[in-house]
Amino acid sequence: MRVLVTGGCGFIGSHFVKRLVAAGEQVVVLDKLTYSGNLANLDGVEHEFVQGDIADPVAVRGAGEGCDAVVNFAAETHVDRSILEAGDFVRTDVLGTHVLLEWVRAAGARLVHVSTDEVYGDVPEGSWSKEDDPLLPSSPYAASKAGGDLLVLAYVRTHGIDACITRGSNTYGSNQYPEKLIPLMVTNALEGEPLPVYGDGRQRRDWLHAEDHCAGIELVLREGAGGGVFNIGAGAERENLDVVMRIVELTGAEPDLVRHVADRPGHDRRYSLDSSRLHELGWKPERDFETGLAETVAWYQDNRAWWEPIKSGAYREYYARQYAERLSS
Ligand code: TYD
Repeated sequence: MRVLVTGGCGFIGSHFVKRLVAAGEQVVVLDKLTYSGNLANLDGVEHEFVQGDIADPVAVRGAGEGCDAVVNFAAETHVDRSILEAGDFVRTDVLGTHVLLEWVRAAGARLVHVSTDEVYGDVPEGSWSKEDDPLLPSSPYAASKAGGDLLVLAYVRTHGIDACITRGSNTYGSNQYPEKLIPLMVTNALEGEPLPVYGDGRQRRDWLHAEDHCAGIELVLREGAGGGVFNIGAGAERENLDVVMRIVELTGAEPDLVRHVADRPGHDRRYSLDSSRLHELGWKPERDFETGLAETVAWYQDNRAWWEPIKSGAYREYYARQYAERLSS
């Protein structure tokens, strides 16, 4: 196969590119190289690279030339940034998805659209979200992903394109930009900086290793029935505070770095996925969370040269905007 991977320089996208290349596939990466896209994530990995935006039809057509399939990882993904400013989220996650869909329709390529459990909204306790549950997004980020998902489903129904959607749970592993919970806490702990826990820290997330997530997406690419939605959850639900305390132990940081700070507006307490559809295709997560977290902490300890430059410059401005007031009160 020749596969276009959009957002292939980002966190999950770069894990996926490495996986496809190792499986012997030809990969073209289209990436805009926004703040979270990083060419270094694909060092030493054989691929063709095009810098460009999925919302630009010319860039998509050029990069997609001769490709049998596209896997769309290109997205603005960070809830907190979407609360500060949502325009880029609508542009990339909704309009960009529309541009990709038009190319898929014209080229007759197969699409796997990578989405998130957040489109279902809060599942405070008990039941699990199933693929045909209503979408009730809480944040501007989740709403823009839900908009993209609905466009994909509409193109399947109306235009008969060959497309699947995957909805993964919270993902962690190496090469994750340090704005999400785990890499932010690990790198702050390694630097002796405060660990800002939103609210009571009793929110729950289901932690999926990036390799397990990518294995699920690859299976959907190869074997998913056209038009289907597949949830990808690890079944490793943890309270945020427990995750942070485990990071404190693993890094040897001082426990009093943990600070309870003002909560995120609209904060979902919990997500929970029913992944039985993907299990029926033969997928199950391979990594348990304890081992995966310890390996991830070790990766950040051993790869300061990857994340220290990121945490200067524009990151500092974002960090101050997001946390300065929270940490001062
Ligand atoms: P995050 O990694 O942003 O993923 P998502 O919002 O998509 O689930 O956050 C995971 C959880 O961690 C979420 O409940 C918010 C919480 N959180 C904090 O408590 N402090 C932080 O600094 C961050 C970034 C997240």
